[in-house]
Amino acid sequence: MGLDQNLASQLKSIEDKVASELKQCSDLDALQKIKAYFLGRKKGKLTQLIKLIPSLSINERKILGPKINQTKNKLLTLFQEKEKAFASSNVKSFFDPTLPGEKPIYGHLHPITQVCYEAEDIFEKMGFEIVEPFEIDDDFHVFETLNIPQGHPARDMWDTFWTEDNFIPITHTSAMQNRILKSVKPPIRAIVPGRCFRHEATDARHEHTFYQIEGVYVDQNISLADLLGTLLSFLEAFFQQKLKYKIQPSYFPFVEPGLEFLISCVICKGRGCATCGHSGWLELIPCGPIHPNVLKMGGVNPEKYSGFAWGMGLDRLVMLRFAIEDIRLFHSGNLRFLEQF
Ligand code: DAH
Repeated sequence: MGLDQNLASQLKSIEDKVASELKQCSDLDALQKIKAYFLGRKKGKLTQLIKLIPSLSINERKILGPKINQTKNKLLTLFQEKEKAFASSNVKSFFDPTLPGEKPIYGHLHPITQVCYEAEDIFEKMGFEIVEPFEIDDDFHVFETLNIPQGHPARDMWDTFWTEDNFIPITHTSAMQNRILKSVKPPIRAIVPGRCFRHEATDARHEHTFYQIEGVYVDQNISLADLLGTLLSFLEAFFQQKLKYKIQPSYFPFVEPGLEFLISCVICKGRGCATCGHSGWLELIPCGPIHPNVLKMGGVNPEKYSGFAWGMGLDRLVMLRFAIEDIRLFHSGNLRFLEQF
């Protein structure tokens, strides 16, 4: 038998074997094994014949080369058809629940989560406990206990969403203040990182869904110096640099006086840039000494104890950390954005 015939019969036998193996094959794993046996890169039965081609004479190559290739294409088609059949009938390979899970190739924590964990770590080291907010809460906790009774004009400061049965997707994480004050005797040190919602006309700085870290600190003899020291220590640890700070008056019904805590711009070091509106300052944390009414409603005697609170925008911290210019990117689901972190 000449080389020609010999090879033709080998090819035929490979084709027959593959056809009969595929008939019996009932799952994807088995299919992969059959494929590897015939077409595997090193030892596949057909691959070995393909590897012979360079050693043939030119004439032999002209005749045999196309035949081998024909068989290869036939096999590939057969495997593909079988794979498709499995995919459409949803036949799964045997699932072994004792095997460890597969690590996804892509995927990591969202930049907001990364920065939130980092902030939590710093506050934990400073002695703060972490409290989770309710994402849907009631008027009593979101407004009443924060010294904002029904009809108070300050309610207009929050573009609140309401559910049909009068609950609120929380408009700020301050909603946990009352529960925190009631839950333990001072000294109290707690932070509330959480997701908030507002009926915003969105732009590069405003989003309907955003994040805050509320802070509450209550003890005897607490003064404004404790508030300033706490916020500055946190921000210097977070931005890993010495910062200048200042405060300016503001208004929130649950603190008296209401303040805004500003730091020297971490991008331009106070020289003036687009991020700080060329002022050299970043208005970062609204805060203040807790209003006596809020303490009273939380069962804390304002004659004996005092404290302070703040509500920090977490999105803003993330934007400053990574120089992100548009808050709407966070929930855009844009992978080109997310994969950078
Ligand atoms: N809850 C306020 C808001 O969302 C932020 C805030 C301001 C919280 C001052 C505080 C505070 O605890 O003292 O607009």
